[in-house]
Amino acid sequence: MSVNSPGILIAVEGIDGAGKSTLVRLLSNLFLVHGHQVLATKEPGGTPLGVELRKLLQYQSIPLDKRAECLLFKADRAQHFSQVVIPALKKGTIVISDRMGDSSIAYQGYGRGHDIAIITKLNTWTMYNHKPDLTIYLKIPLDIAYQRMASRNVAPTVFEQEKRSFMERVMQGFEVLYAGRTDVLVLDAIQEPDILAHIAYESAVHHLHLHK
Ligand code: TYD
Repeated sequence: MSVNSPGILIAVEGIDGAGKSTLVRLLSNLFLVHGHQVLATKEPGGTPLGVELRKLLQYQSIPLDKRAECLLFKADRAQHFSQVVIPALKKGTIVISDRMGDSSIAYQGYGRGHDIAIITKLNTWTMYNHKPDLTIYLKIPLDIAYQRMASRNVAPTVFEQEKRSFMERVMQGFEVLYAGRTDVLVLDAIQEPDILAHIAYESAVHHLHLHK
C-alpha cells in the first residue's frame, strides 16, 4: 500500500525484452488523457543519482561484487523513493514505475542466488514500507525476449550478456513470486503494445476502483 498517501503505486515487472518501458509510456498516456495525474518513472535510473548508478550497474568496466551490485540497486531504490516516488504519492499522483523491488527478488535473489529474505527486508526498508497497489507482470517466452534484445541497436548490458540459465532463473523467480496473487496482473507480452496498454489500463482502473 501507499503508506498514508492519497496516490497510487503501480509497478511494471518482467525479464529484459518483455516490453516494460513501452507499456509504461503508453499506460501513462492513457491515464493522462483520462484526466489522471500520473508520473512515469523507473528503477534503476529514476533520479540523478540513479542515472549514475544505472550506468555502473549495466555497463561494468570492472566486474562488480555480487553483494555490491545488490546494494547499489537498493541505493537506487532508496533515493528513488525518497526523492521521487513518495513526494508524488503524497500529491495524489498515480506513479508507474518500470521495475521496482520485485526485480531485486527475481534478479539478485533467484538470478544471483542471494538470500530472498534479506532482499525482501531491504526492499521494505528502501521503499519506506510502501508496496505497489498493483503490479503488472509482462510474461514473455525467453526466445522472444532474446530476439527483441538482439534487435535493439544498443550494446547489451551485463544482465543481457548473462547465460541463458541466469534469465531462466529470473523468470522462474517472477513466476514463483506472482503465483496466485490477486494484486498482480499477468499480461501476455507478445500482444501488440497498444492492445496491451488498453488491457492494462482497463484492468488497473477496475482493480484500483478509479474513474475511467
Ligand atoms: P531495465 O531498465 O529494464 O533495462 P533496459 O531498459 O535497459 O532494458 O533494467 C536494467 C537492468 O537492471 C535489467 O537487466 C534488470 C536489472 N535489475 C536488477 O538486476 N535488479 C533490480 O533491482 C532492478 C531494478 C533492475
